[in-house]
Amino acid sequence: MAKEVCLTRRGLLGGFAAAGIGAALPGCPAGPSRPAGEEPRGIDPDLAVVMSDLHVGKAWAEQKFKTDRSYDYINDTVRRLVAEILAMNPLPAHVFCLGDVSLCFGEERDYEIAKEVLSPLEAAGIRIVMTAGNHDRRVPMAKTLGGWIAPSPVKGRFASVTRLPKYDMVLLDSLVEPDPSAEDNGVGRGKCELGEEQSKWLDSFLAATTRPALVCAHHPAWSLGINKQMVKDPRVCGFLHGHNHSWQDNILYSSYARKTMIRMLGIPSMGMDRDVGFAVLRALDGWIELMHVERDYYFPVKTAKEDRLPLWDRLVEERHGRRVSFPFDKLA
Ligand SMILES: [Fe+2]
Repeated sequence: MAKEVCLTRRGLLGGFAAAGIGAALPGCPAGPSRPAGEEPRGIDPDLAVVMSDLHVGKAWAEQKFKTDRSYDYINDTVRRLVAEILAMNPLPAHVFCLGDVSLCFGEERDYEIAKEVLSPLEAAGIRIVMTAGNHDRRVPMAKTLGGWIAPSPVKGRFASVTRLPKYDMVLLDSLVEPDPSAEDNGVGRGKCELGEEQSKWLDSFLAATTRPALVCAHHPAWSLGINKQMVKDPRVCGFLHGHNHSWQDNILYSSYARKTMIRMLGIPSMGMDRDVGFAVLRALDGWIELMHVERDYYFPVKTAKEDRLPLWDRLVEERHGRRVSFPFDKLA
């Protein structure tokens, strides 16, 4: 029988009263929780968390390059979500991060803050694996977070394959950096692409593997021109991306004759705007189940509880706990 993943009630409720949530997840008891650390918890190798678009960084008053408004709430939001992951029982073996770690401009201080915010996951025995997004810069990111960037088969890119018990997690690097000498800092405005070398590596990796592969990048597959490849390759069981800060459930189709398709799912932001939360992946025999953890929905302004639109709280209630699947066998 499949094991249930329980986000404790403390995790469900802690610090997110503004979101107006409190429903227990299906299969998880709603009783009082055990404080984290009271009993030793196991780490489940079939359990993983996927997060994206952390956008942590310096306070607005300290920024050299100013963002359009203050996002000073983000660091604490990400801290609360990290605490919730740490309260999971069992703990996930891996946390995958799909880029946009930096607030906006890929500055070194942003990555130092990310290190401080995420290190408790590593201290708990969880392995962190990252790729880059359009708001990142590889040199400062690797300087501070290099231990969380897996050895890449592609020079100059943060691509990686993490072998999990039932499938491979493939992280692609879709960042095209702006000219590093552009001191007005054009980070975030660049286009996205895999590049020739990474595309060749992906082709050869998929041709050689016999294991299911869940492919991920910061940008959607269609923005990278690989949506058809993802649909057709028999080993690719799904595609996850960040970038849009929204739960976006798209099905990519092949032709009527071939009858194959895959799910491409957009992951929310960990702390910035629109959907705020993360994804919990549980590998079963024959498929991956992904659960939406939705903790807030907001515009990038601090909003008093009485000024919150009713729809925001409705969105949180409706999306939280939703489960979607990624079957390994995709051919009819
Ligand atoms: Fe982002």
